[in-house]
Amino acid sequence: MHSHAERGNEGTILGYAHKNNYRGSTNGERMKTSHVKHAICIALDIPHDKTALKLVDILKDHAGFFKVGMQLFYQYGPDLVDEIRTKGVKIFLDLKYHDIPNTVRNAAIASVRMNVDMFNVHTSGGLAMMQQAVEGAKEIAYKENRPMPDILGVTILTSMTQKSLTQELNWPGSIQTRVCEMALLAQKAGLDGVVASPLEVQWIRSACGDDFKIVTPGIRPIWAVSNDQKRVMTPIQAIEAGANIIVVGRPVIQADDPVAAVSRLFA
Ligand code: C5P
Repeated sequence: MHSHAERGNEGTILGYAHKNNYRGSTNGERMKTSHVKHAICIALDIPHDKTALKLVDILKDHAGFFKVGMQLFYQYGPDLVDEIRTKGVKIFLDLKYHDIPNTVRNAAIASVRMNVDMFNVHTSGGLAMMQQAVEGAKEIAYKENRPMPDILGVTILTSMTQKSLTQELNWPGSIQTRVCEMALLAQKAGLDGVVASPLEVQWIRSACGDDFKIVTPGIRPIWAVSNDQKRVMTPIQAIEAGANIIVVGRPVIQADDPVAAVSRLFA
């Protein structure tokens, strides 16, 4: 984690895989899990705190980040976040804030006070909402001398398809165009990066440049089932496309042997 003062384009916690040129590697030699530990985020989508803590214990040598989402947070709250932090891992608080700017600003402040390393907001909440998240977070990090987390914008959920956009939501245009527009808006608002499907990583990378962080769920190794995820890629494909961090849940946490599963992500 980095202090507010240290934070700059180069100093943020994301960027490992991309900056270290894992992208473009073709022989898989450099894709060993030990090399990409910091590019792996395990989604702790499980109902019980004790199971989550146990998973952190057994996986912390293999993954740099652990994602606490709605399921765990709504039940166990900041105490569990604290307990996970004491294990020395980085935390991505995935609560996808989407509300009026003032409310999201206050949620951002609360997130900084939990000392998480990343949290996110929905880009569809608009420019002012995202700007308020950044301003609120910066202000409190500075005032209370807390680490400034990376703030990410959720673009379009990886469970959505072009059909659901066009036919259910009646949104015009392609997913590609919309995701890039959302990413550019997030960048304009001062966010550090976005959460997007691996299929969109290349478009976002060319629209937003090398220093913009891309965190991608929708990751399915060839040996895993896709579940409800629709826009998926393998871990190697996502990193090669330019993702900084891959988020993996069910293929690892529901495996009989989660350590073996995480070790096979880049196999
Ligand atoms: O189990 P699986 O690997 O599909 O888990 C993906 C995780 O990433 C889930 O926790 C889900 O909430 C999260 N996520 C996502 N798509 C987004 C943002 C977050 O799947 N756009």
